[in-house]
Amino acid sequence: MSLKDQIIPSRLPNHIAVIMDGNGRWAKLKGLFRTAGHEKGANAVKEVVEGCGDLGIKFVTLYAFSTENWNRPKMEVKTLMNLLVSSLKKEINTLQKNKIRLHAIGNIESLPSKVYKELQEVMEKTKENDKMMLTLALSYGSREEITNIIKEISAKVKNNIISIENIDETVINEHLYTRNLPDVDLLIRTSGEQRISNFLLWQIAYAELYFTEVLWPDFNKEHLFEAIINYQNRERRFGKTSDQLN
Ligand code: FPP
Repeated sequence: MSLKDQIIPSRLPNHIAVIMDGNGRWAKLKGLFRTAGHEKGANAVKEVVEGCGDLGIKFVTLYAFSTENWNRPKMEVKTLMNLLVSSLKKEINTLQKNKIRLHAIGNIESLPSKVYKELQEVMEKTKENDKMMLTLALSYGSREEITNIIKEISAKVKNNIISIENIDETVINEHLYTRNLPDVDLLIRTSGEQRISNFLLWQIAYAELYFTEVLWPDFNKEHLFEAIINYQNRERRFGKTSDQLN
């Protein structure tokens, strides 16, 4: 039986988030520049989005550029930004054909204007698509997101728009960049690193974490299916006991 056939359709994760790691090491192993790793990484993005689309996964969120990534060498940042623009231009028709809505989270105003403009254009063109919401985390940092929320809510308290007693998890959810997205069910990180790196700290509270040694540019549909099968073999208890679930 193929890996895909082993997946139980009624128990798919609704929201998969991915920390795409290992582009640089992939390139180094092959004696190539790091940028070649990012280029191959963009192909892996396509592969995984297709795989998720085939299965009917509704929400996919990719960590494409963190707030910390601005500290990389200027040339590498430039390559990543160019790659984003060229991928968006190249894939707009595929997004439309497959009814995928593009969405972005993070401090996107801080992106170079050509990236920002292209992103806005693709988001606008795909806004009616309803098969999948593909979210790119760009210039994203979870601590920054949470810090901004605290400022926003504090200002609302100060201006009597909300009272302290009414601040609850729903209010916080409504202020997150991810306010249109459900909680993450499955978080995948490639390349053998086992950390979260400031990605969706609030949103992964009950996510299943899946770490694989595969470097991101090598990650393909079969690897995705393996991660989903692994997820489906876990018992998600959300703080309850096994008996309570049965
Ligand atoms: C991590 O590998 C990867 C990134 C910082 C960028 C991710 C970008 C892409 C996959 C390409 C384009 C994306 C889209 C959405 C088209 P790393 O460079 O940290 O690898 P290393 O840890 O081996 O150095």
